[in-house]
Amino acid sequence: MGDSTQFIIAGNWKMNGMLDESLAFVDALTENPSPTAVEMAICPPFTLLHPLSKPFADKGVKLGAQSVYFEESGAFTGSISPLMVKDAGCHYVILGHSERRDIMHEDNALLLKKLNAVWKHGLEPMFCIGEHLEEREAGTTNDVLKGQLSVLEGTDTSLPLTVAYEPVWAIGTGKTASPEQVSETHAFVHEELARLGRTCKVLYGGSVNAGNAESLMACAGVDGALVGGASLKADSFMEIVAAASRVAA
Ligand code: PGA
Repeated sequence: MGDSTQFIIAGNWKMNGMLDESLAFVDALTENPSPTAVEMAICPPFTLLHPLSKPFADKGVKLGAQSVYFEESGAFTGSISPLMVKDAGCHYVILGHSERRDIMHEDNALLLKKLNAVWKHGLEPMFCIGEHLEEREAGTTNDVLKGQLSVLEGTDTSLPLTVAYEPVWAIGTGKTASPEQVSETHAFVHEELARLGRTCKVLYGGSVNAGNAESLMACAGVDGALVGGASLKADSFMEIVAAASRVAA
């Protein structure tokens, strides 16, 4: 899709990772088997952005932040600004992850401010959406996703964007959506994005691992994966990259 690679395999380390082990992760990364087909990205905790920036760049891994505040600087104790993560070498910023929506109560109004702040500084949002189990069971998945995507209404469609569809019930649970659910939901998300004037990559996330990556990446409308647990070890991360490159071939 577009002029970039076919798949993005992005690791979301969440609140995991010390300096030594993250440098060992970089050392253990093997070569991307098809860099023209698969882009690799890692979103480590803020403390590791600067030290990993060059080592990751040398290995062809794009850097992402897991969140930002929307202000550039000032009296916002404990917050990190888009300028700071840009300065650390980030390309991506994850926004709208269900853990931030649910635990930190981030809503559409706040996410719109964050999106605009990220775009203002030339960063690319990796915008996460996804339904809870009760919503899937009640048949309201599409309404939920539509509501989450409505934040994009009226935003400049020339600005870069990657979306990640992550059913909340599949995150960190070992459960993944079935290929039918994935294809169906990704079709809806692409359709809704088109209605909002956007064509962009839609990654799947939720318990993606070396064993299921190939069948998930083969689903229609899936342009990559946002990987939590299985991105913490270089070997399983590289196995997911290899699975995507097989699908791309
Ligand atoms: P998981 O996390 O792969 O551990 O389920 C995915 C995510 O939250 O991005």
